[in-house]
Amino acid sequence: MSDENMSNLSSAPHQRRPRYRGKNPRRFEDKYKEHDPARYAETAAKVIASGKTPAGTHRPIMVAEILEVLAPQPGDIAADCTLGYGGHAQEILRRLQPGGRLLGLDADPIELPKTEARLRALGFGPETFSAHRSNFAGLPQVLANHFCSLAPSDGERAGVGADVILADLGVSSMQLDEPARGFSVKHEGPLDMRMNPQRGQSASALLAKIEPPALTALLEENADEPNAALLAPALAGKQFPTTTALGNAVRAALPRLKKEEADLSVRRVFQALRIAVNDEFSALDTFLRNLPACLNSRGRVAVLTFHSGEDRRVKKAFESGLRAGNYTDIAREVIRPTPEEVRSNPRSSPAKLRWAHRSES
Ligand SMILES: C[S@@+](CC[C@H](N)C(=O)[O-])C[C@H]1O[C@@H](n2cnc3c(N)ncnc32)[C@H](O)[C@@H]1O
Repeated sequence: MSDENMSNLSSAPHQRRPRYRGKNPRRFEDKYKEHDPARYAETAAKVIASGKTPAGTHRPIMVAEILEVLAPQPGDIAADCTLGYGGHAQEILRRLQPGGRLLGLDADPIELPKTEARLRALGFGPETFSAHRSNFAGLPQVLANHFCSLAPSDGERAGVGADVILADLGVSSMQLDEPARGFSVKHEGPLDMRMNPQRGQSASALLAKIEPPALTALLEENADEPNAALLAPALAGKQFPTTTALGNAVRAALPRLKKEEADLSVRRVFQALRIAVNDEFSALDTFLRNLPACLNSRGRVAVLTFHSGEDRRVKKAFESGLRAGNYTDIAREVIRPTPEEVRSNPRSSPAKLRWAHRSES
């Protein structure tokens, strides 16, 4: 992200707050106090105390556990491959000073400039933090460009990788809760689901084109959906302009299921489509394959996953990296959030953390 973009942000014309009916705003875009927790800390604290996430923000998961396994040190080079709201990045950045640097990657061109501005406002200047609109499958190129851009006098080690790498997979709460992004059945919006809406096809376009056998395979592979064979003929080749229309069609195709079971199928269909639309498994496979080459000698990597399809891939890649001698040690068991964290932030409940240590080269 260039400094020019930054100044455009800060000189944006003042916009009037949207008006809402009643005492409290209900719609995502009207919750202006939640969107600005730095200014309305009391409102944000109340929402968090109720176990929710303030609109337009994201609560970082397993921060203490991640900091423990990554052990960021002053002078380290870190890559946060899923910058999101910058919650993890902020904590890592504090521990890299003096002399360290964090490269923050995210595929989302809508949230990235906001996060860059937030981290700058916290005092992290261009010498310590840079934001990169990139898929994490492109981490080797982001690192190579960074090191190529350094002058010898910059004092950073040239032509090497990162000491610390983090990937916190999936979508952020900003993406999930914004109806216009179309990620959640809880909020009516266009059925989009693209992390980068400027690229690829929306979930609605994918469903309109796909054949039933391919959709059955997609629902099984991406979300272990047990009703895939029943759902595919009802959904494939059909037009679903909105999240609600798709949710209703899934429930209508499963009339024998109890409401709670049908709701689980709706969630799995949304998950499977999101993974397909964003090509998430192939990005993760490429990232895991590139990891050893992106890590400095004795570097540390942590990956936070949210469903079995992701965790299986991370586990296998770390185990085969250990056998090949790329890693000296890996997590033998997954690390889970504490019951207190799950109570305080139910969105942390499916999280699984794995780590690996790069061997000395
Ligand atoms: C769970 S959020 C990360 C939250 C972040 N750790 C924080 O503390 O705010 C996941 C983020 O990763 C991004 N993302 C997901 N897949 C990606 C990929 N393949 N490449 C780059 N960014 C990706 C999403 O756009 C989203 O912003």
